[in-house]
Amino acid sequence: MSTRYAGLIERYRNRLPVDDYTRIISIGEGNTPLIQLQNIPSIIAKDVDIYVKFEGLNPTGSFKDRGMTMAVTKAVENGSQAIICASTGNTSASAAAYAVRAGIKAFVLIPDGKIALGKLAQTLMYDAQIIQINGNFDSGMSLVKEISKHAPVTIVNSINPFRIDGQKTAAFEIIDELGYAPDYHCLPVGNAGNITAYWKGYTEYAQDQGDLKAVVSKRPVMCGYQAAGAAPFISGKMVDNPETIATAIRIGRPQSWDHAWNAQKESAGWFDCFSDEKILEAHKMLSHYEGIFCEPASATSLAGALKDIASGKIAEGSKIVCTLTGNGLKDPDTAINQCKDSHPVTIDATLDAVKKAILDKM
Ligand code: F0G
Repeated sequence: MSTRYAGLIERYRNRLPVDDYTRIISIGEGNTPLIQLQNIPSIIAKDVDIYVKFEGLNPTGSFKDRGMTMAVTKAVENGSQAIICASTGNTSASAAAYAVRAGIKAFVLIPDGKIALGKLAQTLMYDAQIIQINGNFDSGMSLVKEISKHAPVTIVNSINPFRIDGQKTAAFEIIDELGYAPDYHCLPVGNAGNITAYWKGYTEYAQDQGDLKAVVSKRPVMCGYQAAGAAPFISGKMVDNPETIATAIRIGRPQSWDHAWNAQKESAGWFDCFSDEKILEAHKMLSHYEGIFCEPASATSLAGALKDIASGKIAEGSKIVCTLTGNGLKDPDTAINQCKDSHPVTIDATLDAVKKAILDKM
C-alpha cells in the first residue's frame, strides 16, 4: 500500500463531508509540524511547554489551504465554474492555487497596496483574476457577499462552512500528535474563521470520547489575540478603519463574530490585543531564537502567550499551542525592515578577506 501523503481530506475523510465519489481537489495540504520551542521558555525563565503549529508549511504557505481544499472540492462537486473571495492576501493566494488545480476560475478582491508582496506574487503566478479595490478587507467582504447574489460564483471566504470543516483538522492533528489536547490554544484573530474552526475540531474529538463533563475538560482554553489597531473583539464592537503592520489581520468587521465569542465563552478563554511593536518583537524572537520564520500576523499568537505566561494568567506547567498561520516569506518587506540594523558585510572575494570577516565575528 502507498504511504504517500494525499492531503487532509484523505486523512480525515470520515470526519469530513465527502463520499467515495467526490473528486478531491488537493495539493497535499495539512500534516504540518508541531514544533516545541526550545530556547524561548528558558529566555523567559518559565517552566512551560510551548508548541507552534507551523501552518506556513502548507502548499501556498498558510493555513488557508486546509479550508480551501474542502471549499474548492465541494464547489466543484456542486458544479461551480468559478470561486470568489475577499482577502488580505492569504485566502486569495490559496483560492487561486486550488482553482488552478480544479480547472476553474478564481476572482479575488484585495485591498489596493495593502497586501504583502509574497502574497501578491503568488496570486499573480497562480493566474487568478485579481480585482484591487480602493477599500479594505471589510468592504471587499461585503461586496463579495453582494456579488454572489448576482453572478454564478461560489464564495470561498470562511463564511463558507466547508472552509471551517477543512480548518478544524488542525485541531485533530494536534491531538493525534500530542495524544491529548493542550491546556491553552493561542491564535491570531482577524475574520475569526480559524478560532471557530479549531474550536469545532477540538469539540468534535472530545465528543467522541465521552460525556459532556469529559468534553469540557478535554478541550483547551482558547486565547484569541488581535492587533491593537484592528481589535473589535477587545472593544466589543466593529472597527471602521482597522490599521496594523500585520496586514493579514487588518480586519474590523469579523464575519465569524458570534462563533468566536462562543469559543471564548465555552472554553473560558479570552481576547487580548497587541501593538505592532509587540507583534514584531515576537516575530523577531521566533526567527532569532528558534529558527522559525512566520509572517507578522502569525506571531501575534506568541506575543499573547508570552504576555499571559509572564502575568501568570497561563500557569507554569501548562502545555500551550500557538498557531503560526503563515510563512515569513509572504512578507519580505517587513522582515527586511525588521533587520535594517544588521548590515551584511561586503568584502573582496579572497581567502584573506573571508578569513578576516569570520574572525571579526567570532
Ligand atoms: N493569520 C494570517 C496569516 C492570516 O492570513 C489570517 C487571515 C489570520 C491570521 C486570521 O485568521 O481570519 O480566520 O481569524 N487572513 C484572511 C485572508 C482574512 O484574506 O487571507 P481568521
